[in-house]
Amino acid sequence: MGVRFRGWGIAVPDKVVTNDDLSKTLDTSDEWIRERTGIRERRIGGSAMTLGVAAAEKAMAASGVGPADIDFLVMATTTPDRLTPATAPMVATRLGLTCPAMDLNAACSGFMYAVRTAQGLLETGNRRILVIGAENLSRWTDWNDRNMAVLLADGGGATVLEYDESGTDILSFVLGADGAAADLLTCEHGGFIEMNGKEVFRRAVRVVVESAEEAMAKAGVTASDISLVVPHQANVRIIQAATQRLGIDMDRAVVVLDRYGNTSSASIPLAMDDAIVNGRVRPGELALLTGFGAGMTWASSVVRWS
Ligand code: COA
Repeated sequence: MGVRFRGWGIAVPDKVVTNDDLSKTLDTSDEWIRERTGIRERRIGGSAMTLGVAAAEKAMAASGVGPADIDFLVMATTTPDRLTPATAPMVATRLGLTCPAMDLNAACSGFMYAVRTAQGLLETGNRRILVIGAENLSRWTDWNDRNMAVLLADGGGATVLEYDESGTDILSFVLGADGAAADLLTCEHGGFIEMNGKEVFRRAVRVVVESAEEAMAKAGVTASDISLVVPHQANVRIIQAATQRLGIDMDRAVVVLDRYGNTSSASIPLAMDDAIVNGRVRPGELALLTGFGAGMTWASSVVRWS
């Protein structure tokens, strides 16, 4: 059974917040943030709904599809506009969709979980699925907490997945979850996002490497076959450590966190869109998409661009 990626689209708020901006109110510095995370600036504003709608409009236009062509909307978000209803039905209505729509929360692995879910939905008779990852992390950030405020940001990304009998772009998928690590990265109702950064870092590198190796083995490929790595954008040092352990040159990894910070489930589509815009996605080549996040959750997939 075949699944094809069609067009992609992204949306980020207009408001740019630089490291120097944060240094005015927090005991931090541009130098510390850049050296420890790779982040230079981030975008703040909007909501999961507004960013999701804007990204989806671009993805649908890039895919050449209209509202009637979409059979299902899967929206990955950790930061829904409300606890209930889900954000996806409101996004669907604004897009003019009349199909089923649901939210999915797998934190920063959310976009990958949503793609996997869409793949399953395509196997049960749907023809085109709109997949969105959109986040409003700034709403759940304590702007007096330098541990989190320097990392988190807002953004959205989307793609359209289409059923295709003739072949598939998705060669393998590995998903995982470990609720024993729930307290390492958490946000209580009415609270703010909190994290044990060191432990999350350590585990992130491990699950990315292990799941990526498993995904490559399942696809029957090796690290030298991978042309492009599209990783979750949390910390450039995590991307460096993981690619080094995988034996993949860092220059094959897409990095957009310098401009966008950590946008959770929006980060992989933001990176993907950047790779497309910069001509780094070439037909026939293999890409490794890989993410991790609160839960903990993780996900890796090998994709061949058609
Ligand atoms: N600005 C300036 N100094 C800061 C700081 C900030 N924003 N945050 C922490 N520090 C200080 C610490 O207090 C510590 O000072 P000390 O040496 O005097 O005790 C020092 O900088 C080092 O802190 P540490 O926590 O050891 O830094 P680190 O190298 O582990 O980097 C993170 C911290 C959060 C950037 C890093 O652990 C990380 O990226 N973790 C994973 C986060 C992640 O991926 N989260 C999302 C998952 S989806």
